[in-house]
Amino acid sequence: MVKVEQLTKRFGAITAVDGIDFTVEKGEIVGFLGPNGAGKSTTMRMLAGYLPPTSGRASVAGFDIFSESLKAREHIGYLPENVPLYLDMRVAEFLRYRAGLKGVPQRRLTERVGDVLEMCGLDEVGKKIIGRLSKGFRQRVGLADAMIHEPDLLILDEPTIGLDPNQIRLVRDLIRNLRRHHTILLSSHILPEVEMLCSRVIIINKGRIEAMDTPQNLRARLGQAGHILFDAIVADPRAAATDLRQLEGVQGVSHRRDGDWTVFTIEAAPDRDPREALFHHATENKWRVREISRPPVTLERVFAEVTGGEENF
Ligand SMILES: Nc1ncnc2c1ncn2[C@@H]1O[C@H](COP(=O)(O)OP(=O)(O)O)[C@@H](O)[C@H]1O
Ligand SMILES: [Mg+2]
Repeated sequence: MVKVEQLTKRFGAITAVDGIDFTVEKGEIVGFLGPNGAGKSTTMRMLAGYLPPTSGRASVAGFDIFSESLKAREHIGYLPENVPLYLDMRVAEFLRYRAGLKGVPQRRLTERVGDVLEMCGLDEVGKKIIGRLSKGFRQRVGLADAMIHEPDLLILDEPTIGLDPNQIRLVRDLIRNLRRHHTILLSSHILPEVEMLCSRVIIINKGRIEAMDTPQNLRARLGQAGHILFDAIVADPRAAATDLRQLEGVQGVSHRRDGDWTVFTIEAAPDRDPREALFHHATENKWRVREISRPPVTLERVFAEVTGGEENF
């Protein structure tokens, strides 16, 4: 459905998107995840045909988005970062107007407007002036607009940004329902959101793709090299750490004090689980233990790991 090759965008000295490659198959829901300024919006604007690339290529539904832009756009529904709505128009009137612009045949206008109003939960506000709607409703009008011409691919740039938790839930449910009939590429800087909605995640940072996999695999990849928390009362923490480093399956050990307790953070070797060895070691040395655990790896951790510990998002 989407094929991107060596796509690059420079703004003067800034390389916003730096030679990225990826594909999206029909029916997938792929999440672009990255901190502010990573290049998500720039990539999406290029794919939607609103911004020419500096170099590289991309196609949607087999049409080159630059040389066959009009054809490609028939297959794309785009929800930009800041939804440009006509604030003094009424919802249904606006959608009818947009449908006309996007080439929906006259005889199908009423039906299409009715369909998207229903799908986006906008039935009761169809006659309202857009400018008087809440941010959540406006976002749904933006989604309805993106879907009005029945595109195969939806490109949704931060669809839940600026919404309150209730509105976020509604928009999320809506996206979840959409995935039955659409291929979706969405961006977010909120990890749990991507994890909840997407079948695949593309982690982008400083214009480059840092990782690309299912949320499950991304988590598992790091889960194998995960950390173990081990709290014990030991006479000499430094000597204890040195001993622990010798244990089978242990790659590294750091420690800090917490009152009488020493909290060790143990880095397991790939595919190894040294918890049993730790337990034996503690028993042999008659250490008092209050915790031996392996915290689940969240996408937050995956992200921090692949982007070099960046947490500014
Ligand atoms: N029109 C523009 N002119 C100059 N620089 C831009 C423009 N659009 C984006 N940038 C820069 O490109 C980089 C990527 O921005 P953007 O794609 O908006 O990131 P994201 O959506 O991931 O937050 C940023 O450094 C941003 O300042
Ligand atoms: Mg953006």
